[in-house]
Amino acid sequence: MGKKIMLLNASPRRHGNSDKIAQAFTAGAQQKGNEVTRFDAAFMDIGGCTACDRCWSKGEACVIEDDFKKLEPYYESSDVLLLVSPLYWGALPAQVKGAIDRLYAYGGSGGPKPLAIREAAFILIGELETGHIEYKPAVEAFRLMCDYLGWDNRGVIVQGGLGKADDVLNTDALRRVEEFGREI
Ligand SMILES: Cc1cc2nc3c(=O)[nH]c(=O)nc-3n(C[C@H](O)[C@H](O)[C@H](O)COP(=O)(O)O)c2cc1C
Repeated sequence: MGKKIMLLNASPRRHGNSDKIAQAFTAGAQQKGNEVTRFDAAFMDIGGCTACDRCWSKGEACVIEDDFKKLEPYYESSDVLLLVSPLYWGALPAQVKGAIDRLYAYGGSGGPKPLAIREAAFILIGELETGHIEYKPAVEAFRLMCDYLGWDNRGVIVQGGLGKADDVLNTDALRRVEEFGREI
């Protein structure tokens, strides 16, 4: 049976490299009967965690009334999380950070609606060459998140050399990502 995959795209560039990568992954995953639901964090209203420690006090993971509410049902029902992100200043873009930080509600002893996600993967792109040390902190942060939430880390793909919005077309990344989607 196919998996339910939640794809979280961090890029604010509408038809950029992350968008093309997300589409390639989705095509591969769908070919194998998986269901992919994509969220573009940069076009959603998702603020940061306020450390109010009122998680679950109103029956849902987070008490803040914003678009994180749209993510909660998918965090609670998907099998796999795929994070697609450009590297910004050696880290992830601000727009996606809230969607990640507010997973806090599901950590520790959790709440009445646990995370369904058991597997995660990360596709990280940037302008610097693949293998540059600058990608390491974001990759490590992803690994730590997997460890903390008990997710099986299904893999990290780092693709560098992508500056302009179409640069990914000049690499083999889309082919590799589509294949990754078929194998997920
Ligand atoms: C604000 C900003 C910060 C960036 N910081 C980095 C960086 O630290 N390292 C890097 O390799 N590329 C950096 N880049 C380049 C992007 O990661 C790269 O162009 C990526 O392909 C953009 O993905 P997109 O086409 O999906 O928007 C930065 C771009 C922007 C707009």
